[in-house]
Amino acid sequence: MEFSNRLKELPVQFFATLVEKVTKAYAEGRDVINLGQGNPDQPTPPNIVQALQEAAADPNSHKYSPFRGTAELKRAAADFYKREYNVDLDPEAEVAVLFGTKIGLVELPLALMNEGDMLLLPDPGYPDYLSGVKLANVRHEVMPLLRENAFLPDYDKLTPKQLEEAKLLYLNYPNNPTGAIASKEFFEETAQLGKEHGIGIVHDIAYGAIGFDGKKPVSFLEVEGAKDIGIELYTLSKTYNMAGWRVGFAVGNAKMIEAINLLQDHLFVSLFPAVQHAAAVALTAEQSSVEELVELYEGRRNALIAACKRIGWEVEAPSGSFFAWLPVPSGYTSEQFADLLLEKADVAVAAGNGFGTYGEGYIRIGLLVDEARLEEAVERIEKLKLFS
Ligand SMILES: Cc1ncc(COP(=O)(O)O)c(C=O)c1O
Repeated sequence: MEFSNRLKELPVQFFATLVEKVTKAYAEGRDVINLGQGNPDQPTPPNIVQALQEAAADPNSHKYSPFRGTAELKRAAADFYKREYNVDLDPEAEVAVLFGTKIGLVELPLALMNEGDMLLLPDPGYPDYLSGVKLANVRHEVMPLLRENAFLPDYDKLTPKQLEEAKLLYLNYPNNPTGAIASKEFFEETAQLGKEHGIGIVHDIAYGAIGFDGKKPVSFLEVEGAKDIGIELYTLSKTYNMAGWRVGFAVGNAKMIEAINLLQDHLFVSLFPAVQHAAAVALTAEQSSVEELVELYEGRRNALIAACKRIGWEVEAPSGSFFAWLPVPSGYTSEQFADLLLEKADVAVAAGNGFGTYGEGYIRIGLLVDEARLEEAVERIEKLKLFS
């Protein structure tokens, strides 16, 4: 049996090779410090686990969910946006329940674009955006995220042809992989661009809860009129360490939300009702666990950056997300440097070029091990004597 052309066209999972290399190193009995992944290391807060346990025992949870998710979860998502961002949402028309935001990001080109249409993507960016591009057989062009522009796209560099052709534009702040955050002014500029050129804006706010130095990341929907032109995708994976639970939601423009829901009517019968209940509890309960989590990541960030500076590695501290984006020393490509760190220091990192052409020259480190382990990783790197 032959795979469909659609499947044959899917992008090769760049980081599968990294996983293979790390697995091999573990099998050889090496004590690898794995900083290459993006999987939160902390457990889900107990009140959420308990809510799932209770709901799982309730026979009402054993039935099909309403196709478009439970009213309870959609209401909780709307209440969450009101509390966190002072944004008003109609829970039925402006919220779509998702099996994690990855699915929404992959569904959107299928739901809103026709073959050959063009989508603007950030580069470097979350690799799975490209899965949606390939499955829907659309084209994409990239917006470079450069250090000199604080890792924000420079809209002045988009050509008139790109502005005319683009149907959707994806953004992600706090940013994976660069750790940059965006200002409200930048989102205002984005909304303006979308309106002027009829481009749907899709903001992936996966790391929305994780801003450092007392700065709370901004939601795109906080901008006046953002809902006229765009949506935002929020995941519970990072805020509540629920990556394995697969739950998130899209909010904003009613037409875009309807498109997601319509596609999903044909694909799923929404999530296990008990997961939806626990997600609603997560969003609406008291939020001290989130504050503690941000403190934990900030402590790790500070430890990592201080250690890098101590060995003479000139790095910049990320403003948000749980990633640090560190420049590769001269004489190496991202991949060569990542391979060297794994082979000679037993430290696994993600090579920047895996996130796009403009990721070359960087590696990404996840703040997903404790401070002592991060410091140990830098001590191991110091022994390679690459920095003076
Ligand atoms: C930028 C970004 N967007 C979206 C996701 C997907 O998150 P989930 O599918 O768990 O909601 C991730 C996960 O790593 C991510 O880094």
